[in-house]
Amino acid sequence: MSAVKKSGTGGASAFMQAEQAARYVLGRTRLRPRVAIVLGSGLGAFADQLSEASAIEYRKIPHFPISTAIGHAGRLVIGKVNGVTVAAMQGRVHFYEGYSLEQVIFPMRVLARLGIRATVLTNAAGGISREYTQGCLVLLRDHINLQGSNPLIGPNDDRFGVRFPDLTQVYWKPYREFAREEAQRLGMQLFEGVYAALSGPSYETPAEIRYLRAIGADLVGMSTVPEVIAAAHLGVRVLGISCVTNMAAGILDQPITTEEVIETGERVKGQFAALLSAIMPRIDADLAASAPQDDLKKLSRAKSAAAKPPRGGRH
Ligand code: HPA
Repeated sequence: MSAVKKSGTGGASAFMQAEQAARYVLGRTRLRPRVAIVLGSGLGAFADQLSEASAIEYRKIPHFPISTAIGHAGRLVIGKVNGVTVAAMQGRVHFYEGYSLEQVIFPMRVLARLGIRATVLTNAAGGISREYTQGCLVLLRDHINLQGSNPLIGPNDDRFGVRFPDLTQVYWKPYREFAREEAQRLGMQLFEGVYAALSGPSYETPAEIRYLRAIGADLVGMSTVPEVIAAAHLGVRVLGISCVTNMAAGILDQPITTEEVIETGERVKGQFAALLSAIMPRIDADLAASAPQDDLKKLSRAKSAAAKPPRGGRH
């Protein structure tokens, strides 16, 4: 293997560190989740509902970055929801906290080493689309990375994934369909949109929001995209859900406050939890039906078929 970028906490490669962290977690629970949920600002309460739960503080997990953000508890909870074993992260770390993007994606790498093959990434976001209202939930269809960097910069470690991961299908369409169907069954409104990730920590200016709207963004936030890129690299399927905690800068004639962001998360947490628990069995059943390497095999078959001239075709 080629040289591997060292991460912040010592000499070992990020891969070895992720392996060590995963082993620590596996030693603290008998459950073996294949789905993870990352709970964003004000949305962490969902993990308190898990049954047969083991909660592990991030600070106890080797090499794990510790969240300093408001509304992020900093615990990994492994337990069951609606009959499905899940690993739920109560809080995440952000680029604006001063962590490198490689540190920001470390938990996703640990989750993958734990055996996670699908993840639901949630966040609090500012609503840019005029269709949205404060408190509404939006499925992510795509993203625009405006954080000014990419978490995979540096030598590639092939044990995690390929050098140039494809992002065209990273917001896994079948999972968006599951979410839409379950929302409908629950009588909930669910939008779909494009998330723009900025570094923060300042909120945007009204001019920046006009610019983001012009380039096709419906939502703005300061997280999620590095984890999505890491998930694509690791072959983990993604479902992204934003809670519109506030309308983006300049849309309403009022400032944006962190209190408002957290309060809105609190207000919708019941709805949010109902949707998440309804989706979990759908995702788990999907994973049970496909072996871990299925996606890759399908992809390489499709590629070699495309590369070969059609049989019996023109010469
Ligand atoms: N902008 C950026 N990040 C956010 C916002 C916002 O308006 N609301 C919640 N997270």
